[in-house]
Amino acid sequence: MGPGMKPTLHSSARACGKIIVTGEHAVVYGCPALAAGLPDGLTLHAEPLEDSRAPVRLTVEAWDLDVELHPGNEHPVAAAAMAVLGFCDGPLQGWGIRGETRLPSRAGLGSSAALTVALARLAAGQDAPVGTIVEASLCGERVFHGEPSGIDSEVAARGGLVRFVRGRSIEPIPLRNPLPLCIVPSNQPRSTADQVAKVRHRYDRWTKPTRHILDAFSAASEAAENAINGNKLNDLGEIMDMVHGLLVAVGVSSPILDALCSAAREHGARGAKLTGAGGGGCILALPADDPNPLLTALRTEGWAPLSVDVAL
Ligand code: PMV
Repeated sequence: MGPGMKPTLHSSARACGKIIVTGEHAVVYGCPALAAGLPDGLTLHAEPLEDSRAPVRLTVEAWDLDVELHPGNEHPVAAAAMAVLGFCDGPLQGWGIRGETRLPSRAGLGSSAALTVALARLAAGQDAPVGTIVEASLCGERVFHGEPSGIDSEVAARGGLVRFVRGRSIEPIPLRNPLPLCIVPSNQPRSTADQVAKVRHRYDRWTKPTRHILDAFSAASEAAENAINGNKLNDLGEIMDMVHGLLVAVGVSSPILDALCSAAREHGARGAKLTGAGGGGCILALPADDPNPLLTALRTEGWAPLSVDVAL
């Protein structure tokens, strides 16, 4: 920004939510992961406040979020938002920011990355280079997660299906057909940082066996990509089941997530796994050609499955 210029915000900006198809946690250790953007992510709207010296106020009603951005506010969202706006030379005073979303928060669907990416775009513009937006988002993600691999920020900024390896460029995976998926929230909130720390503890204590598990995650991501490229959805389902087993092995599943995966398989899913950090959050199921029996059966059991089509 030039000297004497007042920092400003664009009137609106968008970001995707995300699901991880394979390789969560392993991605922190440099293994490849496949992830996809959920187009119906988060939209932020910005309007000037009457008092141009009042701190920026950020509200997202769907997340019960209402925070003012000033250094004395220790709310992690305030700290993360200030880190993002600081990186982008955005204003910290004189603006109200309102978010609209159908993404649940703290459910492993990339809500924090959607927020930090959309905030960066409010300051830098919806069409700012993706690399800059991801860098800005990571300033906020570090406040939330301590050791983020970067996968959430990349997918929130880009959308589509991607192969991601930490510290390397991200590769889009072209989809010949949209990939139908079913997300089932467990309604159990959890902390990504705690789950990542749990795996770190297991890695430090049982390094050799955990390294073998990480190798299995890598092989599973490669097999999943081949299955997607060949449109072999039964194979993809089987691989998702295996990846759930690997996530159990590194200690991040929970009785509810295991039960939800079993229920999804019993009701006809080709495969199912937890998605994201685990410990709560959501599972991801790959439905049969007709997803309706699965969706109906899960609804009858009291769950609220979301049907999504991942497309380019
Ligand atoms: O944001 P979540 O809860 O979906 O989890 C992020 C994915 C992890 O691999 C668990 C952590 C990371 O930084 O990649």
